[in-house]
Amino acid sequence: MTRVLGIETSCDETGVAIVEDGRRIAAQRIASQAAVHAEFGGVVPEIASRKHTECISQLAAAVLAEAGPGVDAVAATIGPGLMGSLLVGVSFAKALAYAWDVPFIPVHHIEGHIFSTFLTGAAPEFPFLALVVSGGHTSLIWCPERHVYDVLGRTRDDAVGESFDKVAKLLRLGYPGGPEIERAADQGDPNAIAFPRGLINDPSLDFSYSGLKTAVLYRLRGEGGAVADIAASFQAAAVDILVIKTQRAIEQTRAARLVVAGGVAANTLLRTRLETELAIPVHMPPRALCIDNGAMIAAAGHSRLERGLVGRLTASARSSLPLAATLDA
Ligand code: KG4
Ligand code: ZN
Repeated sequence: MTRVLGIETSCDETGVAIVEDGRRIAAQRIASQAAVHAEFGGVVPEIASRKHTECISQLAAAVLAEAGPGVDAVAATIGPGLMGSLLVGVSFAKALAYAWDVPFIPVHHIEGHIFSTFLTGAAPEFPFLALVVSGGHTSLIWCPERHVYDVLGRTRDDAVGESFDKVAKLLRLGYPGGPEIERAADQGDPNAIAFPRGLINDPSLDFSYSGLKTAVLYRLRGEGGAVADIAASFQAAAVDILVIKTQRAIEQTRAARLVVAGGVAANTLLRTRLETELAIPVHMPPRALCIDNGAMIAAAGHSRLERGLVGRLTASARSSLPLAATLDA
């Protein structure tokens, strides 16, 4: 059995987990800072890194106490993300790897999200198409084999999760916006307002979400409407774009299976529509593993360890990092 400790600190969740053989979570802890950032309506980078520093040792101690000693490698998110936040996790992971004399494995945050689907149920077989939807990313990625990525389309402006967060702020709902919009939308009419579906007639697999956010702003400044109806109509448009572009990507790639991951993959409307409207099997992690966590980083790290894709202790955090970048320097 191989055990990998995974550490995630790219944004406002401190995630630490030990995963066995890349599949079984032996122990995990996630400390969310959402409540701290909520009063500012978004993540404050300086506060985020301080909070990671405050809790990371305790989380690691708790995970080790629960799972027992013995770790074969330490994996951490190396990028992309908030620099100060990334540095906390990367430095902590490198120190542990050095002290325990085990490999340090840098993991790209998006790769971590993709590997979250390996932690429960049947692991997706390669090749597959991946839809990664989070606060920082909206991407359709062709995954022909492990650790090889071809980004087919991405957002040209806001990420879909970012648009949920910004629209929630406009509607004076809480932070993070995704779950708040979802809750408000439950009571609303998704057909009340015809919001624009950005780039839907563009043949590319790229996304655009800033026009949708602006349309909500203009609606609020103009005609207005019930918060529930605006939330439901916004959510319907945001999800529609994802479903339509994913369908197009499946046709183009002839993909036999789809992997969906990232914070927005927790959205019930998105999950239901993908599960019922696509002709191919869909692999989605349970909601709890959609948001940032250490287990997904450990799962990706395990796969890298098996293939000898380990890093050096000189590897440093990178706030922006292409998915196909080499991670060992
Ligand atoms: O993956 P994640 O935890 O962090 C990033 O890598 O960004 O994703 C966080 C994003 C936030 O924008 C949040 O509003 C969104 O995921 N989110 C949701 C839901 N839960 C979280 N969006 C829509 N519906 C949800 N239920
Ligand atoms: Zn994420």
